[in-house]
Amino acid sequence: MTTPQTLDDLRQQLIQWKGIDIAKTSNPVPGDGNPKAAIVFVGEAPGQREDELGKPFVGQAGKLLDELLASIDLKREDVYITNVVKFRPPENRDPTPEEKAACLPFLQLELAIIRPKVIVPLGRHALTQFFTNISITDAHGKPRKLTDSLSIFPLYHPAAALHNPNLKQTLFEDMKALGKFLRE
Ligand code: URA
Repeated sequence: MTTPQTLDDLRQQLIQWKGIDIAKTSNPVPGDGNPKAAIVFVGEAPGQREDELGKPFVGQAGKLLDELLASIDLKREDVYITNVVKFRPPENRDPTPEEKAACLPFLQLELAIIRPKVIVPLGRHALTQFFTNISITDAHGKPRKLTDSLSIFPLYHPAAALHNPNLKQTLFEDMKALGKFLRE
């Protein structure tokens, strides 16, 4: 890969890339949102709706993510939203370690271009791209410094909360804590 300078260059590279099998059977779903965002949300992998529309978090989990953002007065246009894996795993299975490793350079390049202050991994697949030895159960709802100028603030994945009212409540509480952290 030549190093892309802009998100548009990176999107073009992703469209042409066929490095894993699911890149040949599904549509590329690049990140979306404000290229100058101070905060980036990172999900797991696209689902059916995302595959159809080529945009991240546009299905049921995306609706909940919109509500979570609105709960701290943020809109999609204020943030950047992306996934670890840029293609839909069939039957919504978990992405494999190989798929995650193969797609990681795209995430790293997105982050290098945007240079956010806060990254919010949604769920364990995204969390383990930043910290390998902690669980989402222990890490959710609190900031951790990755470098002096970059914090990681993990949240549960919105899809996990869709059918679990307790988790949904925790997610909204954690989001409130994120809002407070962003204001500080
Ligand atoms: N779940 C994800 O992890 N990403 C999406 O884009 C949609 C649902």
